[in-house]
Amino acid sequence: MEFINQMEPWFDAREADAVDAYLRSGGWVTEFRKTREFEASIAAYTGAAHCSVVSNGTVSLTLALLACGVGQGDEVLVPDYTMVATPNAVQPTGARVVFVDIDRNHLCMDYDRMVAAVTPRTKAVMLVSINGRVPERLAEYVRFCRERGLWLIEDAAQSLGSRHGGKHLGTFGDIGSFSFSAPKVISTGQGGALVTDNPKLLAAIQKLRDFGREAPGADHYLTMGWNAKFTDLQAVLGLVQMEKLPWRVERKKAIYARYQAQLRDVPGIEWIATNLAETSPWFIDVLVDATRRDALMAHLKARQIGSRPFYPALHAEPVYARAEQHPVAEEIARRGLWLPSASKLTDEQVDFVCAAMREFNL
Ligand SMILES: Cc1ncc(COP(=O)(O)O)c(C=O)c1O
Repeated sequence: MEFINQMEPWFDAREADAVDAYLRSGGWVTEFRKTREFEASIAAYTGAAHCSVVSNGTVSLTLALLACGVGQGDEVLVPDYTMVATPNAVQPTGARVVFVDIDRNHLCMDYDRMVAAVTPRTKAVMLVSINGRVPERLAEYVRFCRERGLWLIEDAAQSLGSRHGGKHLGTFGDIGSFSFSAPKVISTGQGGALVTDNPKLLAAIQKLRDFGREAPGADHYLTMGWNAKFTDLQAVLGLVQMEKLPWRVERKKAIYARYQAQLRDVPGIEWIATNLAETSPWFIDVLVDATRRDALMAHLKARQIGSRPFYPALHAEPVYARAEQHPVAEEIARRGLWLPSASKLTDEQVDFVCAAMREFNL
């Protein structure tokens, strides 16, 4: 039997034909019309007024912070449980990362701890919609940031296809950021997107990503800028993937529901509250006994099933080594496990993974 990966990208003859047609058309590969089309399709899908695509979903976060004027002497609030890209994206701005513990209910930044972490130096909050979930009190986060004059950057890297009150995640704050890396619901190999309704922020991002140029191709430099540009070759892939996105979003929900129906009553498996009407979970995530997680992963691997532990609590990683305590993030990091989650999974594969989970004595 073929190994079931925890996650994998999915391309087929449609992407191959589109890339072939593009290359035969004499495209220059670097960003041009296809990139603009891809941006328009992301803006239309998310309902954002503007979109700018960049080289990946880490650079996108740095550019978002820089566009908001975050810099030396500022503090940025980041959840302690997220992919390391979120805090790492703060470093190039010169600002200091302030880790905030998460809420046990949705695994996003905890509201009260966020409020308590604000100081006169706080300039921005990075709200990560981890695994496509957001706090039910999202409106309160937005209101708090607005009232306190804090920029709200939504790291929605894992949330393409997820909504709250019908509105797409990434469109609640000042800027939303997405990623198209290989494991994401749609992929362009690497890639990131920024969405905003604010034309000034869009203009700042467009300069930051293109050497600070006044306009594409115009060698007059208004601000400091770098090269974070996309390519038309990726955009050609991305446009086909966008057509597949609505089906994948529904398929992910169906896969999550199928897992849950079979594993809901298994002692030792804990689920995180998930509203499938709005959330399309990127990964199938469960909590298990921390002392049994490695043995469970080995059990699955012996049956040709891939799995992956949650991210670590970032404050304690050597790169940050902060002598702090964030008990919820620490517990979640010790207990969390991601099961096979690709939209490509068949029902039979999901059932096979569930049977293997049930066999193991948690
Ligand atoms: C929450 C979060 N933020 C940022 C990133 C970084 O995106 P990229 O890999 O495109 O740089 C990821 C990627 O996994 C992520 O999950």
